[in-house]
Amino acid sequence: MARDILKALKNKKLPQMVDWYDPRLLAKIGVREVISSVMGQYADQRLLQAATDRASEDELANRYDYSNPQNEDQLKRIELDGKGAVWVDYIADLGDGFEPTYAMASLLASESLDLGDVGHLRHGEILIMGGDQAYPQASREQYRNRLQDPYDLAFTADDQPERKLFAVPGNHDWYDGLNAFDNLFCSARDRSSRGQGTMIGGWQCRQHRSYFAIQLPHNWWIWGADIQFSNNLDDGQINYFDLISEQMGPGDKVIICIAEPSWLEAEAQGYDEHENLNAISMLARKTGAQICAVLAGDWHHYSRYHSDNLGIHFITCGGGGAFAHATHQLKNKLTVHWPVATKTGETSDDSLAFDTAEKRIMKGDDNIDFKAQEFEISAQEDADENAPESAHKTRPRPPSAKRLLGEAEPFDHEKPHIYPSRLTSRLLSLRNFALPFHNFKFALGLGFIYFIYSWMAFGIDEEIQYFQGSFGTDTPYEKSIVWFVYLASQKSIAFFLMVVGLWFGLVKYVDTSVIKFKFLRPWVGATIGTAHFLAHLLAIAMMTMLVNGVIYLFSQFHNNITTIKPTADLTKQIAAIDNAHYASLRSFIAKGSYLQDPETLMEQRVEKVSQLQKIKVQRERDLFAAYRILGALLMIPLGGILGALVFGTYWVFTCTILSMHCGDAFGALMIKDYNHFLRMKFEKDKLTIYPIGLDRVPRARGWVEPSAAGPLRPNKPKIVPKKPLKIHLIEDPIVIHAKDAG
Ligand SMILES: [Fe+2]
Repeated sequence: MARDILKALKNKKLPQMVDWYDPRLLAKIGVREVISSVMGQYADQRLLQAATDRASEDELANRYDYSNPQNEDQLKRIELDGKGAVWVDYIADLGDGFEPTYAMASLLASESLDLGDVGHLRHGEILIMGGDQAYPQASREQYRNRLQDPYDLAFTADDQPERKLFAVPGNHDWYDGLNAFDNLFCSARDRSSRGQGTMIGGWQCRQHRSYFAIQLPHNWWIWGADIQFSNNLDDGQINYFDLISEQMGPGDKVIICIAEPSWLEAEAQGYDEHENLNAISMLARKTGAQICAVLAGDWHHYSRYHSDNLGIHFITCGGGGAFAHATHQLKNKLTVHWPVATKTGETSDDSLAFDTAEKRIMKGDDNIDFKAQEFEISAQEDADENAPESAHKTRPRPPSAKRLLGEAEPFDHEKPHIYPSRLTSRLLSLRNFALPFHNFKFALGLGFIYFIYSWMAFGIDEEIQYFQGSFGTDTPYEKSIVWFVYLASQKSIAFFLMVVGLWFGLVKYVDTSVIKFKFLRPWVGATIGTAHFLAHLLAIAMMTMLVNGVIYLFSQFHNNITTIKPTADLTKQIAAIDNAHYASLRSFIAKGSYLQDPETLMEQRVEKVSQLQKIKVQRERDLFAAYRILGALLMIPLGGILGALVFGTYWVFTCTILSMHCGDAFGALMIKDYNHFLRMKFEKDKLTIYPIGLDRVPRARGWVEPSAAGPLRPNKPKIVPKKPLKIHLIEDPIVIHAKDAG
């Protein structure tokens, strides 16, 4: 079995990183996105979940109550460590290529992880998957191949106590209308399951719907919300969390898991992005509970923003196996639109979106109102000496296992709260100079587009030359592409529309949301888009000239072998007829009689000339056919490489220098490394979050049979890395004291 897996891995038979710029995949995803967003509006799976979940209110409220480790109900028991703490893991954006997904699954499955100074960290009793559990479209097959298989193989032991699994759906989970997600993760809702859902490796799915509220010992809660394509929280979900909030009160502490980091999205998209997070946070706090941290995936990097005023950590942690995202575009300081409790009756003068959110979730008898305010959140530690008591202080840092694992003390944060580092991110972005070579299918797609443009231009070029009477000679526009486009556009409306369409598309494509001043955005977009357009136009012209050159050589060769003999024969025959005609005329002048009838000779000549013309026309047709074949053969791969070089250079320029298109540029790179997840330790008075990073994932040949790499592990993985995975803490452990929470 292990050998089969290793063989399949080496032969690339196991899932590879998703090639996001494969034109077929782009088209499929585009169609899926439209269909699923329409389906989501007309047939919201969440409403079906609520309708088919026939639990009483009491059952609903206490379903995931793991607060009592000695609970009579075995399904509600959770194992604590020797000091009474409960451990929970959080991972998001996983099922992509096999190697990174398996590497992360094997880390999660291990009994404990050795983190040097910090010591050994015990595995999580609960695993939270934070969204985008499989790529690209999260169908049942993709869940099976890209998520379940690696997790099953990483944790095969059936003699180990089951761990619990909960998942929040991300946009990729929603691409099939949430059907496959519901089938897999919400299987505990099936009557026949008796509350015990599907096993994925050593983890058992426990949730009944695509959202959940887990109660842990020591008044800690984890809420997972389903925001469906960042649209909204459905009524069933609001009712559920409203019911849960009634079980809570002052002294309860909440961690919210949500599919998107609205604090990052809002920077570009506006405050509306905060609506879902605001809604769920108001529900969590309306009876006095405190929110300590908000966790999100979707962006495949690690970043942590914090506000001392709010006492909340906003953590993005989407490195569960999906390709790495850029970090150099992240700002050190952001503004978050956060609801604060106000006196009853005080009106809110904030955005309409916020008012709508509040009205939807607050009831008349709730003794609390909220008002949205702006708070600065920072990815760097605040060195302000006047900061509140709860703030982390900057002191010399001698970390030791004893201190970090011992009694509560604020930690120093010397490392940036971003991973991979901004410098690494910029350097990685330079890899797009080699775009054609790591995204060859994308290059072929561009080559095909180049071919279409070039083919049209070729046809029009002949037409223009014919009308100008300059066929076959140098024409002025050959010195200017723009002049040619001008002339060609007069000849063909289709060509004109194609050129304008390309320009318009590339201008619209420019991601100007990073430009701070809105009035500048259209100008910046037009400038960068036009430069990009001209670069492609130049590339198409260069490739067309190259192909024309090859065709000219080909035509010479072609003429020599196919038309030289018949044309020469005919030319000779015409010359012979002409000679006969002259001889006949001379005979008439000298002797008064023709040697041959001139009319017959004329008829013969007309016939031969006509035959010659036909051959010439045939030759032109052959040339055009040759262009089609040669053009396709040359233009698609060579034009594609040139086009992808232009595109890659565009991404390097815009992403590295201007911080635009970072998602697209990094999607094309398919980087398997810089993975990460969170390990959390919940204790009576504090929560410690350990962000764990893995810089490099072993490649296909970096895995061996377990017997070849030391003693057997309790989780019995099918294959193990040749050398131990080099994990590290991304930053010092984040300690949240209950009193810090806002
Ligand atoms: Fe994702």
